[in-house]
Amino acid sequence: MELGFRLLLVLAIGVLLACGGGIAPASAAGGRWELLQDSVGVSAMHMQLLHNDRVILFDRTNFGPSNLTFPPGHPCRRNPRDQWFRGEADCTAHSVEYDVASNTFRALSIFTDTWCSSGYVAPDGTLVQTGGSDDGIRKVRLMPACTGGADDTACDWSEKPTDPDVLAADRWYATNQKLPDGSAIIVGGRGQPNYEFYPKADPASGTTLPLQFLSGDNSMYLYPFVHLNVDGNLFIFENNRAILFDYKSGSVVRTYPTLGDGAPRNNPTAGSSVLLPLKPNATEAEVLVCGGAPASSISAVNDNRQFPPALRTCGRIKITDPEPAAAWVLEDMPSPRVMGDMILLPNGEVLIINGATDGIAGWDSANTFNPTPVVYRPDRPLGDRFEAQAPAAGTPRPRMYHASAVLLRDGRVLLGGSNPHERYVFGNAKFPTELSLEAFSPDYLDASNDDRRPSIVNPSLTGAPVSVKYDDQLVVAFRVPVRDPVVSVTMVAPSFTTHSFAQNQRLLFLQAQLVTKAPQLPGIGGAILPTDVHVASVTMPTKVLAPPGYYLLFVVNGRIPSKGIWVHIQ
Ligand SMILES: *[C@@H]1O[C@H](CO)[C@@H](O)[C@H](O)[C@H]1NC(C)=O
Ligand SMILES: *[C@@H]1O[C@H](CO)[C@@H](O)[C@H](O)[C@H]1NC(C)=O
Repeated sequence: MELGFRLLLVLAIGVLLACGGGIAPASAAGGRWELLQDSVGVSAMHMQLLHNDRVILFDRTNFGPSNLTFPPGHPCRRNPRDQWFRGEADCTAHSVEYDVASNTFRALSIFTDTWCSSGYVAPDGTLVQTGGSDDGIRKVRLMPACTGGADDTACDWSEKPTDPDVLAADRWYATNQKLPDGSAIIVGGRGQPNYEFYPKADPASGTTLPLQFLSGDNSMYLYPFVHLNVDGNLFIFENNRAILFDYKSGSVVRTYPTLGDGAPRNNPTAGSSVLLPLKPNATEAEVLVCGGAPASSISAVNDNRQFPPALRTCGRIKITDPEPAAAWVLEDMPSPRVMGDMILLPNGEVLIINGATDGIAGWDSANTFNPTPVVYRPDRPLGDRFEAQAPAAGTPRPRMYHASAVLLRDGRVLLGGSNPHERYVFGNAKFPTELSLEAFSPDYLDASNDDRRPSIVNPSLTGAPVSVKYDDQLVVAFRVPVRDPVVSVTMVAPSFTTHSFAQNQRLLFLQAQLVTKAPQLPGIGGAILPTDVHVASVTMPTKVLAPPGYYLLFVVNGRIPSKGIWVHIQ
């Protein structure tokens, strides 16, 4: 009798879970850390995932050898303008291609200095890296998505010793944003209150256009947060304030109020920022800015070697609201954070990871690592949006200055870098140079969620790229082991991440209609599908919402995402 009752109870709970409509069980500290590589030999100051599921990472070149020696036969770098080698051979790599599936990496060649640079992925899937420092400050370098498997040695950065300067101004600490026409705007940089485009509309012009907003007090802050708004204008945040900017006419459309108490949020008081996920056919957009440091921390660190607490606040604003309605709403994170990375997750939540609880960005400028990532759930009520994840355990790898993070196709977040030193320093340092790569799996990847996890079976079983056109209907078939999944379909632009800001990152919820038959699926035309197979007809977005190029597309059940597939939208 008692046994029977217990069995009934277990069955009832099973049914409750299965019918939960995809709402994950509340877990106080889900998520998992995984060391992928103890050393790839290069510190990941900048990272970008390409549509071959390989991550291109790179550091700078002007500080001496890295810890990755070129394989025999690989030409060494001889750059007379290199500050360290001065024309002597540098036979070490400063960039690496990391293959996610095989967990392997290989050395790549960069000729001139890429320190604190910017980038974006062109519509054809090529990584376009812009600027840097010293001899690289006006260079543009290209890295394709290589297809040659393990023996891909001929596939590398295209940068020749004789390459001319391409940029019209020095771009050190600038931010790029891909535009609806597939080009990029390059905004700011140290001492550069202006912008330019790549490729140039008129290659001969060589001009920059003024951006007064980046001058005055704001010129103390670097790497502006730039987001492409749904109306085609750019939201640009620097220091503690923001504008909506029409880059075509060079005019300020809107001036937003100052965020909170006016504490600064950009490098070196490095907070981070995301454009929150866009709803289908979005006409509204919101921006979230989290963390940073009080302005007084700059002199406290630089003059007195003190490390005051970082900011705990985030500001959220509806950027499509006209003046004066647009207002920042403040929220408190569970812990203070400077130099955090904000990464949009496939389910529309935001992971806040990496960084310190005190100090500022810079060499030896922070004293306490923040080991605990936090997930922000934008659709929950104010005051109930943050959910702490499992802290880095075992031997944590503090990732602070010059660390980075990018989303992977399988829903994990790749973490690399951290080097709060001018050169590579391993012994006698509280925070040694990090050459490792780690993956953080947010709690949606916990095994307890496997019973509600979708998997895409069509149009791409392997994740390999599928071509789509703007406004197309894409038929997506997926399996999910629950009867009534709560389905949404999302599309994510992978970011170029450096210095606590994920450039070009955006996530769209797409219009998706569930259908019971699959008329357009090859092989099962018109068939009634097995009960665990579902089909969604997904409306592709417009160019302004999703500039052309490669995106990751996910099916999400509740808050549990599938693995992504690549879509190439043009
Ligand atoms: C990097 O290279 C230095 C110098 O050769 C060596 O002392 C150090 O152990 C290396 N560190 C790692 C993490 O490979
Ligand atoms: C999206 O917006 C456009 C323009 O307002 C409209 O024509 C279209 O029907 C909308 N589509 C959906 C799916 O709402």
